[in-house]
Amino acid sequence: MTNAATHVYRGTIVHAPHLGALECAEHAYLVTEGGRIAGIFEELPGKYQNAALEDFGDSLIIPSFTDLHLHAPQYIMMGMGFDLPLLDWLNTYTFKEEARFADADFARTVYEALAAELVRRGTTRVCMFSTLHRKATLILMDALERAGITGYVGKVNMDRNSPDCLRETCEESLAETRRWIEECAGRFPHIKPILTPRFTPSCTDALMEGLGALAAEYDLPVQSHLSENDAEIEWVRELHPDCAQYWETYAKFGLWKQGTIMAHCVHSDTRERAAIRTAGVWVAHSPDSNTNLYSGVAPVRKMLNEGLHVALASDVAGGAKLSMLHAAGEAIRASKLRYYYSGKRQDEAYLTVPEAFYLATSAGQQYFGAGPGFRAGDMLHAVVLSDAAFPPSRRLTPAERLERLIYADDPDTIRAVISEGRRLR
Ligand code: GUN
Ligand code: FE
Repeated sequence: MTNAATHVYRGTIVHAPHLGALECAEHAYLVTEGGRIAGIFEELPGKYQNAALEDFGDSLIIPSFTDLHLHAPQYIMMGMGFDLPLLDWLNTYTFKEEARFADADFARTVYEALAAELVRRGTTRVCMFSTLHRKATLILMDALERAGITGYVGKVNMDRNSPDCLRETCEESLAETRRWIEECAGRFPHIKPILTPRFTPSCTDALMEGLGALAAEYDLPVQSHLSENDAEIEWVRELHPDCAQYWETYAKFGLWKQGTIMAHCVHSDTRERAAIRTAGVWVAHSPDSNTNLYSGVAPVRKMLNEGLHVALASDVAGGAKLSMLHAAGEAIRASKLRYYYSGKRQDEAYLTVPEAFYLATSAGQQYFGAGPGFRAGDMLHAVVLSDAAFPPSRRLTPAERLERLIYADDPDTIRAVISEGRRLR
């Protein structure tokens, strides 16, 4: 029995149910019922013969991308200020640009453009920082919801070490955060709040303590930054002499817990990585940002070997592009340099294409309770990629075609985007 809610998508299906291995089915059928994946079939089962069919021909059908860490306001400053390291980049460029989001009209214009561009780039699940502005944060959530994007957005908290134009008092920060949580309750079916202390240098102990209490009271997840840059880490050491390591400045206030996302972790050593794994914290790996701000190269192979949750992120605008195809390519390139400079040690082995693809799709999906890969029962999130305009080649395998599409990083190759079972493009 089929009904109007049954959809059949035909194409070459490529996904990564396991780290390092692709599953491919050429000219196969992906069936959804009510937007949920019913299965992948080489031959279309009889019961689906009369369902609506969309034939994508030779194109690849892959899971859409997840971006586990990016800054929505920094969309207006992509590619700016990279001759400076992190802390100078924040002070010289970032904080001034973020202050502009006090203007709600400006925020709406920027955030609608950002939401449209995310869809164009095939990213349908995000964990995003807004700014400290409550109104602009609600506008961002609304823009993403209406564009069909799903995930988490955080009103940023910061009550120290930033200019007057981008700083709250501790009381304001907590009151505005509570008000924001109440205002978004039940309002956005696909965009949920996540508590967002910017990073330890931006938040007093009193603010961190208040946020820890809110996380417990409302049972909310948390996102922040960790061990990104040498000067930042040294600063945190001075601010918290009682903490042996950076992560403890979050743990001290109840912010270090299952599902907490920490961006970067470039300099997280064995002990800090063990704390990440034990707590069930997620690492958002942003290789493009880490190179642009010359923060370093994160030890991703070690994290994977040790069983940490790692997923890719653009970290726009530390990352200069929203594209997760680009992030995947950067993850591979960065890992190869780390491998080379380690003296080609096996415990620093570089990431392969199937591994980077997994980190850009399957890994992040699991943060949202789905996947890995196209898993029966999950709402369909998919991207259709076409290499029809590439120079002619011999007959390529689906894996070879995916590799070329990743390295080409061309938005024109993205022909269709499906989010929560709905066609967005
Ligand atoms: N640490 C604190 N704020 C930021 C930010 O906006 N971007 C990056 N990359 N790191 C940060
Ligand atoms: Fe960031």
